[in-house]
Amino acid sequence: AIEAKVEALLKRMTLDEKVGQLHQLTGRQMTGPGSEKFNDKLDDIRHGKVGSMLNVKGVAETREIQALALQSRLKIPLLFSLDVIHGYRTVFPVPLGEAASWDLEAMRLSAHIAAKEAAASGIHWTFAPMVDVGRDPRWGRVMEGAGEDPYLGAQIATARVRGFQGEKLGGLDSVMATAKHFAGYGAAIAGRDYNAVDMSLQQLHETYLPPFKAAADAGVATFMNSFNTLNGVPATGNRYLQRDLLKGQWRYKGFVVSDWASIKEMVEHGHAADLADAAAKAIDAGSDMDMEGYAYTGNLAQLVRSGRVKPALVDDAVRRILYKKFELGLFDDPYRYSDAAREQAVLNDPAHVQAARDVARKSLVLLQNANHALPLNKDVKSLAVIGPLAESRRDLEGGWIVASDESRVVSVVDGIRAKLSPATKLVVAKGCDAACTDTSGFKEAVAAANGADAVLLVVGETWDMSGEAKSRTELGLPGEQARLFDALAATGKPVVVAIMAGRPLVFNNVADRAAAILYTWFAGSQGGNAIADVLFGDYNPSGKLPMTFPRSVGQIPISYQQYSTGRPVLDEKNIVYRSAYIDAPNTPRYAFGHGLSYTTFGYSDLVLSKPAMGPRDKLEVSFTLSNTGPRAGEEVVQLYLRDKVASIVRPVQELKGFRKVKLAAGERRTVRFTIDRDALAFVNGRLERVAEPGDFVLMIGSASDAIHLRQEFRLLE
Ligand code: IFM
Repeated sequence: AIEAKVEALLKRMTLDEKVGQLHQLTGRQMTGPGSEKFNDKLDDIRHGKVGSMLNVKGVAETREIQALALQSRLKIPLLFSLDVIHGYRTVFPVPLGEAASWDLEAMRLSAHIAAKEAAASGIHWTFAPMVDVGRDPRWGRVMEGAGEDPYLGAQIATARVRGFQGEKLGGLDSVMATAKHFAGYGAAIAGRDYNAVDMSLQQLHETYLPPFKAAADAGVATFMNSFNTLNGVPATGNRYLQRDLLKGQWRYKGFVVSDWASIKEMVEHGHAADLADAAAKAIDAGSDMDMEGYAYTGNLAQLVRSGRVKPALVDDAVRRILYKKFELGLFDDPYRYSDAAREQAVLNDPAHVQAARDVARKSLVLLQNANHALPLNKDVKSLAVIGPLAESRRDLEGGWIVASDESRVVSVVDGIRAKLSPATKLVVAKGCDAACTDTSGFKEAVAAANGADAVLLVVGETWDMSGEAKSRTELGLPGEQARLFDALAATGKPVVVAIMAGRPLVFNNVADRAAAILYTWFAGSQGGNAIADVLFGDYNPSGKLPMTFPRSVGQIPISYQQYSTGRPVLDEKNIVYRSAYIDAPNTPRYAFGHGLSYTTFGYSDLVLSKPAMGPRDKLEVSFTLSNTGPRAGEEVVQLYLRDKVASIVRPVQELKGFRKVKLAAGERRTVRFTIDRDALAFVNGRLERVAEPGDFVLMIGSASDAIHLRQEFRLLE
């Protein structure tokens, strides 16, 4: 029925009105460079020249602007979009942090709450989830994704799309989601944002596309293309990606929005001669909506009239966009998302605050905990909390904050204070500010440590050091923060360190000597409470790294999914003429999948249902997981495979399954996985997914570098 409505409307539209639907403009808030005057934009909306606005939010503002669109001849409502990346009013951990929970339901819930709040505030559409695979922590946008792994990334993409969109588009507690940035953006050369991407199509299909395919299969309403060139062709003008693959092979029915001015930037790339040429190339390649690029609005109608662009291409793009407007119910009631009473109620729902605390606790990763330095004792006589980020609220929120209320954010010190017994003396000392170039405060910090029974140091990146356009060449703690740790460690007191960041950092001196390290990411508005829950043992940490932490920048790009070489390192002491570095091991500081708990887990009794599986068989895998420690806890058990011989050399390990299992102290449980042919398949040289007969190694572990059970099996012809 929607199709018929779309066709009827399309018939009534002039070419200029059609082009208007493909034009997206920003409101006053900028999330990219340069823009036209706001008042001119309002005039264009009144005249039906705009299909969508980004960066407009709140019931009052969206109502006001929608009313202008309804003054246009055909009264086609606008779509309001916004980067609701990890929460709207309630701020959840940054996406990479949430990914460390390996808890798909938690990620679905966080996206659902973000959607519910945004949808109550006039928003129809979020530019999330970012599903780019990231293996280069120099690239600041790894913060917005799900890490380095295509399998984990695909699972998380599905959970997030479901969270944002709900069961069906059009619900008032959901928004349209966007799978971005299509494609390859995470592989920017040297980790420099917006840089070129050059990789084989086999690698693209094997590593970078699975989360996009998963999002498409989960019904994601839109795709956003990306700034980068892929093998020489800008993604925005890339016919292979958008038309042949996405809209062709994948039969994708939603629409593609450009990234900010990425159509226009094809001129700068040297792929288009001018704006008109860029518009022609982008529409031909399958870019449906032009975000702040002014390429379509000024040129597309003329390009059609002159015969350079086929009218059917414009119609196809308009159809896709109108379909979504109908699906959202905007033609029935253009203001249905903009209800002041609902906005008030939803943005103040206390259940959202509780959920933010819970998701944040699940995201924290205990990297090391020598001699059980953690959890801290609530009755400790005196505690020194030191460091530039200990009292910061803004940094806990991370980037892409669109509607938060900083006064509601719980800092680490706030969270700790709420835990301590009144008898505990709490001393707070900054040591230095976040840039940490002035070390004059170290003395006071050292004195605080000397006088305390327990010492916590809170350091890391500030919120604006990770994210878009935040590439770094060095990944150490900012300024002299590492020296602040050294000064505290020199007191001889065990120093517990909490590190905030939007990406894996390199902090070898801390790793070598800290009593314990908790990696907190940017944990959101309830971050301080969540961190205190873990520090004092009210929550047993269960996070695992979704990205490898290198020992040095020189190891980057780095992933557990490395390929074997003809000269593998068999023994770290003998690396001559081996694929190795002469100044560092190949191994990372912390491996993908690593994360500790306050309890311990045992793995035993691996059973495979058969030693060999036929082409249509399934292999049942089971083993026993035991909580061998003193308290209840959750373990993320990870299943990896290695295909020993294949037409395309396989990585030494590939994640193919995981479960987060909660066990009481002393409890044992049988954990089961099923391996089907698809789990054994890979993308071959002809870009087909195939499972080739032969031997496979199955590995079960608590991290990619902590494999506890291993067995081989065979796939038969
Ligand atoms: O959604 C973002 C995108 O990820 C980067 N460029 C700007 C867009 C809109 O804000």
